[in-house]
Amino acid sequence: MDNCELTRRGFLGHTAPWAASAGALAAGLATAAEPSGTAPTTVGMKVLGISCSPRKGKTTSQAVAHCLDAIRAAAPAIETELIDLGGKNINGCVAAGIDLPEGQQDDFLPLIPQIDSPTVRGIVIGSPVYFGNMSGLCKSLLDRFYVFHKEKKLAGKVAGAIACGGGRNGGQELTLRSIHTSLMSQQMIVVGDAPPTSHWGGTVWTGAGAELAADEFGLNTVKNLGKRIAEIIMLLSRAGGPSA
Ligand SMILES: Cc1cc2nc3c(=O)[nH]c(=O)nc-3n(C[C@H](O)[C@H](O)[C@H](O)COP(=O)(O)O)c2cc1C
Repeated sequence: MDNCELTRRGFLGHTAPWAASAGALAAGLATAAEPSGTAPTTVGMKVLGISCSPRKGKTTSQAVAHCLDAIRAAAPAIETELIDLGGKNINGCVAAGIDLPEGQQDDFLPLIPQIDSPTVRGIVIGSPVYFGNMSGLCKSLLDRFYVFHKEKKLAGKVAGAIACGGGRNGGQELTLRSIHTSLMSQQMIVVGDAPPTSHWGGTVWTGAGAELAADEFGLNTVKNLGKRIAEIIMLLSRAGGPSA
């Protein structure tokens, strides 16, 4: 475009290939379970969902599980695995080169090969909202992702976030954006939730009732995040990269 002039025709012209890909995407999602000559590479595609609440199996973990269900529903070829950090000990100081006391090991080391696998095409990070931001456990985990940073091991993988707060407006959005910032530093492809909610990821209000399902709106953001993650992974797979 001359002189950076952005006309509607010019914009559509520039975006046409992606518009076409998006159109093909629906077909790709529908046929993902039926490999054919033109189907995307579907072998060994996995999304990890990591729940970063110290409380194992509680609302954050449940929300991440809902997101993983939505990913499989949208693209059955994608496997999913839930990693619940509840009860685990992850020490963020190690990222800064501070060794654990001799003979001690925390729970991050076993996660390294799980996360650093070529079959992992996406990661969902779920955190409770603690004083308006992610939990300490979540921050420690993301700081320990430093081990992947130098060699850009997570670059090109798709990422999304879920924040679960006791307040309706308890800091979910800032929590999401904080998680996004860390993941963007890893050159991950950060996505939000698909239409019709279309915002920044899963925002759950756990104060709605004893059951997570009581927050129907929040649950929809979680499901739509899963759908969006599945869509982008399949789109990248069809295009041959960067996470293909
Ligand atoms: C230390 C602490 C701080 C919290 N701060 C907030 C907050 O700022 N905003 C909010 O909405 N909820 C806050 N909560 C409530 C939790 O986010 C909420 O109970 C969440 O569902 C817990 O997730 P879990 O059930 O997966 O452990 C806080 C809870 C704790 C323990």
